Amino acid sequence: MKGFPRELFQMGKVHTLLAFALQIFYSCHAASTFSNAFFYQDILNGNGNGEIHFNGIKLRVEAQPHTVFAVRGSNVTLPCRFWYEPLIISPRRVRVKWSLLPLSGDQEFDVLVSIGQRQRSFGAFENRVHLQKHVQGDISLIITNVSLKDSGQYRCEVIDGLEDESATVDLRLRGVVFPYQPHHGRYRLTFREAQKACNDQDAAVATFDQLFAAWQEGLDWCNAGWLADGTVQYPIVQPRQPCGGLELAPGVRNYGARHKHRNHYDVFCFTPTVTGEVYFLQLPQKLNFTMAVQACIEDGAQIAKVGQLFAAWKFLELDQCDAGWLADGSLRYPVSNPRPNCGPLKSGVRSFGFPQPYHKHSVYCYRSR
Ligand SMILES: *[C@@H]1O[C@H](CO)[C@@H](O)[C@H](O)[C@H]1NC(C)=O
Ligand SMILES: *[C@@H]1O[C@H](CO)[C@@H](O)[C@H](O)[C@H]1NC(C)=O
Ligand SMILES: *[C@@H]1O[C@H](CO)[C@@H](O)[C@H](O)[C@H]1NC(C)=O
Repeated sequence: MKGFPRELFQMGKVHTLLAFALQIFYSCHAASTFSNAFFYQDILNGNGNGEIHFNGIKLRVEAQPHTVFAVRGSNVTLPCRFWYEPLIISPRRVRVKWSLLPLSGDQEFDVLVSIGQRQRSFGAFENRVHLQKHVQGDISLIITNVSLKDSGQYRCEVIDGLEDESATVDLRLRGVVFPYQPHHGRYRLTFREAQKACNDQDAAVATFDQLFAAWQEGLDWCNAGWLADGTVQYPIVQPRQPCGGLELAPGVRNYGARHKHRNHYDVFCFTPTVTGEVYFLQLPQKLNFTMAVQACIEDGAQIAKVGQLFAAWKFLELDQCDAGWLADGSLRYPVSNPRPNCGPLKSGVRSFGFPQPYHKHSVYCYRSR
């Protein structure tokens, strides 16, 4: 600020006077080293890597849109960019960090760290993420082969010297919510067991948002189940006596947070769109459970998981009016064109519980692409 009347800066309200004074300043010192931002004349000094000392400079980070939807197996771009106000043209060496707070998770973890041209990715993201860098300041994150575990809230953080700014963006997978009860009956799962039950069926414990969206689409279920945040809730479309009574309006009924080890409930699972093929195995004879598992393997496939059957029903309109074994030992069939003699006149996956494994039925298989 050499040669510049310092008092002007202390008089916050005289902006027009200041602007006027700057014009004079610019026109008199057109040959000096700064670009469009006079604040930097003593800072940038050619290498552009100094810390920003001047309070007037703001580092800005923005992620728009805030929510990105993806299907499993696809590539997705999480938007994020940074810039300075006032604008700096010369590139600065910043540190960029992306981290993830998983939807069902407890702790945040690192996804990618980048300094200049160097970058490092971590854990399940190794070799699956990079920065887009289409234009200066573009630090959008590209994730390839998106999986269920990738969904959650991402933070994009930029560190420039002492400045540290961040923005968040949610990655949501398209999928379907289904209620799940294990073979040993109703209300038998602790929170950890609920997580395992969903994982075993190619799913994760649903979040409240996912359950709420499913309720809006008509999910009505009269058994309380765990959600990812450790609360226990259930969705009611048609109020009725055994499900909280007739007085309560339709909605998602909430028991609140429950003890994760001591309390036992069912669970709501969320499974993303299926990437392979789910099919009814056409065979002349019916099979007990062990033979059913074997029959899918002999067909170059595997016995289908409950989540895979729900995803195929929801997104591929799988429709088959024949009950078949699934991987957890349950018996179900999917109906997307409701018709007489195929259960209620509503689209859905019909469930017949867990028969004895020596009973003979058909089977649903899953083959990955
Ligand atoms: C995702 O990106 C990878 C690497 O850039 C590419 O090889 C692959 O074809 C892409 N997949 C899809 C589904 O676009
Ligand atoms: C994508 O990820 C899944 C696991 O989530 C893996 O089984 C599959 O092989 C991966 N596909 C590619 C093309 O890397
Ligand atoms: C299913 O049938 C096979 C062959 O008859 C038999 O070896 C197997 O023990 C049976 N499994 C069950 C669970 O009954």
